[in-house]
Amino acid sequence: MSIFLETSRLTLRQFTEDDEDNLVELDSDPEVMRFLTGGRPTPREEIRDRIPRLLGYYERFEGFGFWAAQEKATGRFLGWFHFRPNIDEPRDGEIELGYRLRRSAWGKGYATEGSRALIRKGFTELGVERVVAETMTVNLGSRRVMEKAGLTLVRTFHRDGLDSIEGFEHGVVEYALTRADWERELQGMR
Ligand SMILES: CC(C)(COP(=O)(O)OP(=O)(O)OC[C@H]1O[C@@H](n2cnc3c(N)ncnc32)[C@H](O)[C@@H]1OP(=O)(O)O)[C@@H](O)C(=O)NCCC(=O)NCCS
Repeated sequence: MSIFLETSRLTLRQFTEDDEDNLVELDSDPEVMRFLTGGRPTPREEIRDRIPRLLGYYERFEGFGFWAAQEKATGRFLGWFHFRPNIDEPRDGEIELGYRLRRSAWGKGYATEGSRALIRKGFTELGVERVVAETMTVNLGSRRVMEKAGLTLVRTFHRDGLDSIEGFEHGVVEYALTRADWERELQGMR
């Protein structure tokens, strides 16, 4: 197992081809997929097709990509975080944060714990200058994680192709945190 990062309760490790079942199960819960596809599970074939691209990040970008989250106490697969450059529109020093956890893991602070650890590592070790994250405006749980991780709202905008998702008419929100603001926040806490 190639471990990328550990927090007090989580291990973030590289994905492998053996994670197909984990990913299928994660995406099979309509509640997990509610604000991503409108609840539609991701078919196994689609996940199988995506795995090589997901593994490809580790070679293309050292220190960035998709990380499988495991609960330290049980070793159980909980879901994943991504912390990666935007491949379509890469911007120097800018990294996108995202997360998807199985329902049984919600409400325990895991998404916040993993996000904060990735942000810290990004700013202190990986040369990241700005972290961005997006979610549906109505995905209040996801927005709360962004806020607890220190990101603030930048803008609300509309994107085509999301109209199967409940609340799509309210659009998408973008949040961000710069290294300078993160450092200032840390100083304030001392
Ligand atoms: C979003 C998600 C990752 C959050 O994971 P989590 O581990 O439960 O998050 P945390 O426990 O760290 O924090 C969640 C916060 O949101 C709050 N929250 C959750 N649902 C909420 C809702 N419907 N309305 C308001 N706040 C909500 C929680 O109370 C908590 O805040 P608090 O600590 O101030 O009470 C998880 O719900 C998930 O995987 N959802 C499905 C996939 C998804 O939507 N991913 C984001 C796509 S951009």
